[in-house]
Amino acid sequence: MRKPLVAGNWKMHKTASEATRLFQQLSNSYDQSLAGVDMVVCPPFTSLRSAQVTLEFDSNTEIKIGAQDVHWEPQGAFTGAISAAMLKDVSCTYCIVGHSERRGYFGETDEMVALKAAALAQVGIVPIVCCGESLETREEGGALSFVTAQIRAALENISAEDAKAIVIAYEPIWAIGTGRTALPEQAEEVCNALRETLQELYGKEVADAIRILYGGSLNPGNVESFVAMPNIDGGLVGGASLVAEDFIVLLKAFS
Ligand code: PGA
Repeated sequence: MRKPLVAGNWKMHKTASEATRLFQQLSNSYDQSLAGVDMVVCPPFTSLRSAQVTLEFDSNTEIKIGAQDVHWEPQGAFTGAISAAMLKDVSCTYCIVGHSERRGYFGETDEMVALKAAALAQVGIVPIVCCGESLETREEGGALSFVTAQIRAALENISAEDAKAIVIAYEPIWAIGTGRTALPEQAEEVCNALRETLQELYGKEVADAIRILYGGSLNPGNVESFVAMPNIDGGLVGGASLVAEDFIVLLKAFS
């Protein structure tokens, strides 16, 4: 009932010309066997326009464009920042918010994540809201309460109507870029707890409609075990999204 979604988070990789090549490779690899999965690519800001140009004119592909961050204000004196309307103008339909790298390296707080998610929802861009615990929190037994609190805070300004479209990504910090994945059962336990939280916030119908992704060292070798989990509806993929063949394998696994 939930259409799976796989999003590639390119992070700070690829110049605009390198990105154009990768969009073309993805576009050329796209075929109807991927129609059952939403495919999203989130390049750096500098490549969004070239994603729009490359992908918009290829009527055979259904690749959707996402950004990696946004500012919550609609405009103004915020040097270096990008607004939701600017993202919409380059055909972004998704945007990652609250990634642990933004929280850890750029001081992003739960309050900022909530403002960003609401700003995106207001212009009709789907926020991919990230959560995830540190290794220390997991070892202390606090993973479930930590991530569910992050999601409660992030969704504070999101109505039930807007909530249906949002995407949640569970990414344990200790599994990101480390080659160490969570066990599928560990990820499922958290994703199930997240769905229960969504149910408390919005009711069962909305909670059942929201896609919850797993992220953290997903690759062609380990993806199948996550596909089998009932509360995992796709993936947020870093490293493996930079190689077209690998990304396509992950998409096919979830489709
Ligand atoms: P990874 O990154 O797949 O390289 O671990 C995932 C992410 O941070 O979104």
